[in-house]
Amino acid sequence: ARTAVVIPAAGKGVRLGPGAPKALRALNGTPMLIHAVRAMAASRAVSLVVVVAPPDGAAEVKSLLDAHALPERTDFLVVPGGETRQESVKLGLDALPPEHDIVLVHDAARPLVPVDTVDAVIEAVRDGAQAVVPALPLADTVKEVEPAAVTGEPEPVVATPQRARLRAVQTPQGFDRATLIRAHETVTDDVTDDASMVEQLGLTVVVVPGHEEAFKVTRPLDLVLAEAVLARRRL
Ligand code: C5P
Repeated sequence: ARTAVVIPAAGKGVRLGPGAPKALRALNGTPMLIHAVRAMAASRAVSLVVVVAPPDGAAEVKSLLDAHALPERTDFLVVPGGETRQESVKLGLDALPPEHDIVLVHDAARPLVPVDTVDAVIEAVRDGAQAVVPALPLADTVKEVEPAAVTGEPEPVVATPQRARLRAVQTPQGFDRATLIRAHETVTDDVTDDASMVEQLGLTVVVVPGHEEAFKVTRPLDLVLAEAVLARRRL
C-alpha cells in the first residue's frame, strides 16, 4: 500500500492576526508549512505530499519546498487551493496519481504532530479501517448554545454533552482512497473535517490516540506554545 498526504495550506489565518497566509508564517524561523511537510515526510510510509497552496501563492510555495530538503523517498506536488478547506482538499485529491491507495489529510496548521501519531493513523487504515482520526479527551466541559444573533449578547445553553464521551479531533486523518474520494464527490454540506464526510456516507470512522503536540495553531497564543515546543525539542 502506498500512502500520500494532502496538506491543505490555503487558509488566510484571520484568527492569527494580520500578516502572511497562516501556513507561510514562521515558527522559529521556518514556515509552519515546512514543519508540517517534514512531519509527514518523517513517516517512512509516506511517498508523496500534495501541498494545497493559497490560490495566488503556488509558485512561492513550490520554491519554498524546493529550498527545504525532504527525505529522498518523498515526492511533493503543489496545487492552488480554493475558498474553503473542503474545496482545497478536493483540489488536492484531484491531483493524486493513481498508485496511492491510502490518503492522509493533514492541516498545515498542525506543524508539530509527532511521527508516531502519523504512523498510528496509517497503521489503522492498513489494518482495514476506511477512515481514522487521531483524537484526545477534552479538558474543558463543552456546552451547546443557541448562537446569539448579535455578537456580544448572552447565548442560552441548549445542552451539555457528557464530557467523557467527547473527543477533540486532530489531523492527520487517514482514509482508504476510494472512500475519501467518494465522500468528497457526494457530500456538499459545510464540514470542518474530512472524516465527518465519511460519517455522512454512513460508514464507520475510528479513533486512535492523538497527541498534545498535534494542536492546531490558530490564535496568537498558539504561536508562543509552538515555538516553546520546538525549543524544547532542540534540547
Ligand atoms: O480554518 P481552519 O483552521 O479549519 O484551517 C485548517 C487548514 O485548512 C489550514 O491548514 C488551512 O490552511 C487550510 N485551508 C485551506 N483552504 C481554505 C481554508 C483553510 O487549505 N480555503
